[in-house]
Amino acid sequence: MAYSKIFLILFTVLNSIYYLNAGYSGVPQTTADTKAVLRRSLELRCIYDGDGSGEFLEWYRGDDDSSVNNEKSGHYGVKSNDKESNLTIKIFVEADALVKKWYVKTNKAGYERPPECSFDQISLKASPQGMETDRDNEKLDSAHGSVRRMEDESVDFVCHIAPKENVDLSKVVWSYSKDDKTFVNLLDQTTVNDAIVIKDNELRINGVKKTDRGYYRCELNNVHFTVLLRVKDRLAALWPFLGIVGVVVVLVIIILIFEKRQKSNKKNITTDDDDQDQANDPLVRTTTKGSDNDTKKRAIKA
Ligand SMILES: *[C@@H]1O[C@H](CO)[C@@H](O)[C@H](O)[C@H]1NC(C)=O
Repeated sequence: MAYSKIFLILFTVLNSIYYLNAGYSGVPQTTADTKAVLRRSLELRCIYDGDGSGEFLEWYRGDDDSSVNNEKSGHYGVKSNDKESNLTIKIFVEADALVKKWYVKTNKAGYERPPECSFDQISLKASPQGMETDRDNEKLDSAHGSVRRMEDESVDFVCHIAPKENVDLSKVVWSYSKDDKTFVNLLDQTTVNDAIVIKDNELRINGVKKTDRGYYRCELNNVHFTVLLRVKDRLAALWPFLGIVGVVVVLVIIILIFEKRQKSNKKNITTDDDDQDQANDPLVRTTTKGSDNDTKKRAIKA
């Protein structure tokens, strides 16, 4: 009895000494200055730098202590090995910003829920999430969108910022690129080109020219959203119409020629038929036969 008690105490002491080496740390260290961007991914990491394995179990979120595994599949991704465990919030949504706590659990005695790997609520930072224009049917919310204008029409771009609360819209920066690679600040261009008007998250181009074609980008908090402006010249817009008119004219001409030909053919055929009809007409033949017979009869009589 005494022996087993001593053994148990010894075991616990040794265990504690062994686990004193256990150390967990979280990345980021605090979520106070980590802000998430809507619809982007965000990663929380827990690193173990002690002996052996960190024995990571599962990530949990929220006040109801539910495993992230219980959430919609694919929204979170967990990757762990002996030394670290990563929780990836793949597409950060508003609901994620409401979660009060994020933490990882381990199977290590005394470190079941390491406080270093417990993260506070993650707030959102305002960022461009889409682009709207002066036309109702033009609402772009994914990358690689484009907007089309005829030459001399004007275009309004309104950069959609979310979340909207406490946003300083004057911090929105507009830039332009011909090829989606090197962008120039459009504010510098407004002095050169007075057709461009910039007001916070709105950009207006009065009377677009073919040279205005290109990529327009709004940026806030190092997040940007880009839209391609295509400019059609007036004549180009006319080409399909002229093409259709051309095809119709050609068709009409072909039909007219064809009809004329058919008419003249018909005339020829009818005249031919008239001749043949006369030749083949049984009445005509009988009469000739009759007259033949008559002459024969006459000859006999004679
Ligand atoms: C965790 O994330 C870091 C940085 O993104 C990466 O280098 C590491 O390989 C990840 N660990 C695992 C286990 O996937």
